[in-house]
Amino acid sequence: MICKSKNTLLFFSLMITAFLFSTPCITYSSDTRHSADFTKSWKFHLGDVTNGQEISFDDSQWRTLDLPHDWSIEGEFNKDNPATPGGGALRGGIGWYRKSFSIPEMDSKKLQFVDFDGVYRNSEVWVNGHYLGKRPYGYSSFQYELTPFLKYGNAQNIIAVRVDNSQQPNSRWYSGSGIYRNVRLVVTEAIHVDHWGTSITTPEVTAQSAMVSIRIKVKNSSGIDQALTIRTVVLDQEGKKAAETETKNVGAKNSVSEVSQDMTVSTPALWTLESPRLYRAVTTIECNGKECDEYETTFGIRTFVFDVDKGFFLNGKHVKINGVCDHHDLGCFGSAVNKRALERQLEILKAMGCNAIRTSHNPPAPELLDLCDKMGFIVMDEAFDMWKKKKTDFDYSLDWDTWHRQDLTDMILRDRNHPSVFIWSIGNEIPEQWDKQDSNGTIIARELGAVVKSLDSTRPVTSALNNPVPSNPLVLSGALDLIGNNYSIDKYPDFPKTFPGKKFIATETVSALATRGHYDMPSDTIRRWPTRWDIPFNAGNPGNTCSAYDNCSAPWGSTHEETWKVMKKYDFLSGMFIWTGFDYIGEPTPYGWPSRSSYFGIVDLAGFPKDVYYMYQSEWTDKPVLHIFPHWNWKKGDTVDVWAYTNCAEVELFLNGKSLGTKKKIGDELHLMWKVPFTPGTLKAIGRTGGKEILTQEIKTAGAPAKIVLEADRKVISADGNDLSFVTVKVVDEAGTLVPDADNLIHFTISAEGKIAGVDNGLQTSLESFKAHERKAFNGLCLSVIQSNEKAGRITLEATSDGLQRSSIVIESK
Ligand code: GAL
Repeated sequence: MICKSKNTLLFFSLMITAFLFSTPCITYSSDTRHSADFTKSWKFHLGDVTNGQEISFDDSQWRTLDLPHDWSIEGEFNKDNPATPGGGALRGGIGWYRKSFSIPEMDSKKLQFVDFDGVYRNSEVWVNGHYLGKRPYGYSSFQYELTPFLKYGNAQNIIAVRVDNSQQPNSRWYSGSGIYRNVRLVVTEAIHVDHWGTSITTPEVTAQSAMVSIRIKVKNSSGIDQALTIRTVVLDQEGKKAAETETKNVGAKNSVSEVSQDMTVSTPALWTLESPRLYRAVTTIECNGKECDEYETTFGIRTFVFDVDKGFFLNGKHVKINGVCDHHDLGCFGSAVNKRALERQLEILKAMGCNAIRTSHNPPAPELLDLCDKMGFIVMDEAFDMWKKKKTDFDYSLDWDTWHRQDLTDMILRDRNHPSVFIWSIGNEIPEQWDKQDSNGTIIARELGAVVKSLDSTRPVTSALNNPVPSNPLVLSGALDLIGNNYSIDKYPDFPKTFPGKKFIATETVSALATRGHYDMPSDTIRRWPTRWDIPFNAGNPGNTCSAYDNCSAPWGSTHEETWKVMKKYDFLSGMFIWTGFDYIGEPTPYGWPSRSSYFGIVDLAGFPKDVYYMYQSEWTDKPVLHIFPHWNWKKGDTVDVWAYTNCAEVELFLNGKSLGTKKKIGDELHLMWKVPFTPGTLKAIGRTGGKEILTQEIKTAGAPAKIVLEADRKVISADGNDLSFVTVKVVDEAGTLVPDADNLIHFTISAEGKIAGVDNGLQTSLESFKAHERKAFNGLCLSVIQSNEKAGRITLEATSDGLQRSSIVIESK
């Protein structure tokens, strides 16, 4: 949902004027509604203080920063941090934020609100010393009204936020700490569309027409009854009017009334995964002939069904849900949200053929859903990782009784207009599922299911069950429209017999483990690590690596290939969400310290794909794929397992020009393999279909590290202070071949037009800082992320390392 100023130009020019001539000042035009970025120039202090909410409190010694901000990611890894390595081994604690701002006199008759997209956790907010409220759950978005407490004109207002993430562990993964999502200041007239106040559904859709139903909550905070005209115009993606309607209504004083409007859009442009067309409903309220609000809701027109026998259909077309689960951290950003970093993750997943995201195990940043709407992803939006029974000592179970209804309600209200959202999950592996029937498991599932349905009856409800049996109290509650299955793929073929008449979704699968570029042979032996989930794991590899041959998985999971072979075979298996798309900080199964991030990703923490990425790409996309691995730097006398992921019909492999034979893709095999006695040189693969050469790939033995090569994902970025260029740093030999085990320390310097937002290399045991200006390469690669500042110009990043030829790259910021 986007709330937009009608007169954006005037708004921005006033903002600029205010910026130039005064202390931080939020300036609005005389227009009706504005939503202004409220993330700049906050004061921050790590640690608790007394009376930090008071106007007179002296914060002059505090650090000045811009939000979103995660203070944990700036700290040092330490196994003794209370978060434990499972939570990422970074610090928690208490932090305070304060911001001074002024509101122009001309807005003194309006209403002012502050919107927080997420604060981890236990946030408490004050304005001018007045307490506004507390939100324990770190993943909820919330709004407070500021109006009664504000001063106008030149007077300064102080907003103060105390964040308490001191009681740990409270999460099974890395949470981050602070105001880690965006904040906005919203201004409205006394009569306005309420917060998250629209709900759009499309109950009838054909090729010829779609019915668009909008329910609007109109809030009249003025002390008088008002005759209102509420008009909604639907605009298509090109901004052309597609429908409109008008309703006359009386808004009773100091109350919220609901208005329903139905419209018909002819020949609707459907929201599909390939072409996710969006519409905007622009609702205006007119009081006494004068416009008093304009509110915009983005939505999409699409139909979908989950069929008991045939799986999932989108707009009548069968689609397998080929999804991944992801946590919310963005690698070197920690949990501090950045839209481009999220977009890059989605681009990488889209190129793999992935079409769905599960927001495990909490409501996501709103930007993720906006991107999924625009890019065409199916989202399973998840509320909780636990209910009343705890998973870690200080988790949300402690807040459950007081807060769960509000948090679930807020998630549905905020997210229900997103066309990308298809499934609501009321919880992941909820401990109450092991209770007896008619216990809390049943009672709470019914309560949550009813909350969801009362706000949105158009999407199915599920819960990710790790005990997916008919006697599960959550199943017996009747609240689940889809039976969510976590793991146990061996039981999937029998699902129609075990759950007659029920609909299936694999809410979580796989949990395979891999370190990018590390290979354990024999490749066809599968390691289930840890060997038992309930006893400490003392085996594994020196250096805490896991093999990237897709031959290592957690014992409760299965390898990627094992899983996909089952999933692709049966239509009634509507789809799955793989654990996980990206590595994430925390949960370093199977290892403990010094491992501090996970091994589950198809893509590593820095965003470099592991080999199995190409298995999915060969299965899930139509583009020709040929990916051979491992690297070609072994010892003389080694026999090396060479794998190929391909969708060519056959692959011929050559070593130093000599054919090692052609292998054909037969049956349900997902990779080809050759056992090759190692000799240095060039390994070459030719992929053919119908006798025609489709693709070739070469891998060469690398010599000693000699040079640095820099490759940016984008060479032109926007000078908005947020945009990013992700620069891949490669360590290569004299001939330009990637050195597959290079671990040279690379130093970065950057010109004043940009900054280094973070560095990474994807190594799960690296204890280097994500915020340093240097990073060791890991298996030949590392990453430096450039962020623009608000000045246009040419940003030069230079990379140096002892004994290596330096390199630099120029990114244009405009
Ligand atoms: C699942 C759980 C996930 C993650 C995963 C690791 O059981 O739902 O949150 O812990 O295991 O394999």
